[in-house]
Formats: sequence, structure tokens, C-alpha cells
Amino acid sequence: MGRLEGKSALITGAARGIGRAFAEAYVREGAGVAIGDIDLARASRAAAEIGEAAIAVEMDVTSRASIEKAVQAVEDAFGGIDILINNAAIFDLAPIVEISRQSYERVFAINVAGTLFTLQAVARSMIKRGKGGKIINMASQAGRRGEPLVGVYCASKAAVISLTQSAGLDLIKHGINVNAIAPGVVDGEHWDGVDALFARYENRPLGEKKRLVGEAVPFGRMGTAEDLTGMAIFLATSEADYILAQTYNVDGGNWMS
Ligand SMILES: NC(=O)c1ccc[n+]([C@@H]2O[C@H](COP(=O)([O-])OP(=O)(O)OC[C@H]3O[C@@H](n4cnc5c(N)ncnc54)[C@H](O)[C@@H]3O)[C@@H](O)[C@H]2O)c1
Repeated sequence: MGRLEGKSALITGAARGIGRAFAEAYVREGAGVAIGDIDLARASRAAAEIGEAAIAVEMDVTSRASIEKAVQAVEDAFGGIDILINNAAIFDLAPIVEISRQSYERVFAINVAGTLFTLQAVARSMIKRGKGGKIINMASQAGRRGEPLVGVYCASKAAVISLTQSAGLDLIKHGINVNAIAPGVVDGEHWDGVDALFARYENRPLGEKKRLVGEAVPFGRMGTAEDLTGMAIFLATSEADYILAQTYNVDGGNWMS
């Protein structure tokens, strides 16, 4: 018997990377999982590879109409939503004096407004259904402190930590637990992009930043998406019923709080 047997989950941005690993882990634990992503082709491939307990749902978290449509599709498929993981996000990098308004608006539209309004739509659905639920937001160690080149992304993840606190306090009266996970540096396509940006702005060869951040992790290496699945499962189970408004570091010891 899996720990999420009979539960249904919507995971945003789950066509690849950490979200996809969460989808696989949740299905292994017995859940039905909707892979919500702006990249429908890749989400569909992921769902087909994971198996029939996974479905792909087209979803742009910057559009409230798209969020509503996706929530409806998941309700239709599974009869309701027990778990939401707000995982979709993008990264950008620039010195403070070069940050463009366009970059700021795009990062905040996806990482902050996307998290808030997906959380809101799913919370409304959970309240209407009356069975409570679990909401997990993906924060980051970047939300714990600023970094010289990462001003916008760091601020967006600090906002996710703050929203987790407010939503956690507001929604617990409906039996909805809201918490967050703050990963450190997780290898994958996301960090390939981060590495390429650092290579440009810090004049490094490709791959060097990745190697350096991995060596600096107290555990001794970068994280993998699978390193995060234990916390994502735990926070979705009834074992976490008394936990709310928290952000958990799963980062190999990078940050202590
Ligand atoms: N990888 C890391 O080192 C790391 C570290 C800390 C926090 N995080 C956080 O973990 C989460 C997952 O990271 P990842 O490394 O798997 O990222 P990723 O870039 O590999 O995957 C992000 C997914 O989000 C989707 N997406 C982008 N814009 C979207 C939109 N508007 N609507 C719906 N989906 C959209 C993409 O298509 C992609 O599938 C993110 O919130 C990220 O900020 C990652």
C-alpha cells in the first residue's frame, strides 16, 4: 500500500526536472498525478512514460483562465484535487544595474503570481470539496538571502516563502496545509541554463560554476531531483497534518534555519 494511495495531485511544471521526479514518486506511492505544464508535448511524453496513473494537462500559470481550465480538467479526471505542488518557475540572472523590466515581470508572473493564483484556484476547489488538502510550494535557498547577480529570482523565491506563511495560516481552518520546500542546487536542465548564464556574466567556461557550487555543498555534491522526493511525499501525507506555513531546506546542508 503506497503512502498516497487514492490521492490525486496536480504538479505544475512537471514535464521535466524536479516536478517530473515528484510525479514519478507520487505515482509509485499510489497517487493519480496531473502533470500541468506549458509544454504540453513534453508533459504528454512524461505522462505516457510514467504510466496510466499520470495525465498531462496544458497549463500556463501566468494565465488565470488557463489555471481554471487545468483545475477543471484535473477535477474531471480524478474527482477532486488532494495535493498541489506549485513547482513551475523560471530563472534569470543579471547585475542589478542591467535588470530589465521585462525579465522582472516574466519571473514574477511565473514564480510569484503563478504560485499565488494556482494556489488560490486549487484552494477554492479543495474548500468546495470539503476534504482539506496539502499544498507544497517550491521555494529555494535563493529565497533565504540575496545574491549579486540573482536579484529578481532571489526576490521571487523570498516571496514564495512569505506567501507560504500567509496561505498556511489562512487555509488551515479549511484543513489545508500549505508548506514549502527550499532546494539548494539541483542538477538537471534548469541548472544547465543557470550555468550558461553564470558563464556569460562571470566569464567562466561552461560547467565550471556547476562544479564549484557542487563542491561547496556540505554533503559533497549537487542535489538530484530524487533527493527531494522524500520531503514532497512526507508533506503530502497525514503524517504532516500538524505542519503548516513552514519552508524546509532540502539542500545538502547549504542553509541552516
Ligand atoms: N534546479 C535547482 O537547482 C533548483 C533549486 C532551487 C529551487 N528550484 C525550484 O524547483 C522547481 C523546479 O525546478 P527545476 O529545476 O525542475 O526546473 P525546470 O526548469 O527543469 O522545470 C520547470 C518546468 O516549468 C515549466 N514552466 C515554465 N513556465 C511555465 C508556465 N508559465 N506555466 C506552466 N509551466 C511552466 C517548464 O516547461 C518546465 O517543465 C522550481 O520552482 C525551481 O525554482 C530548483
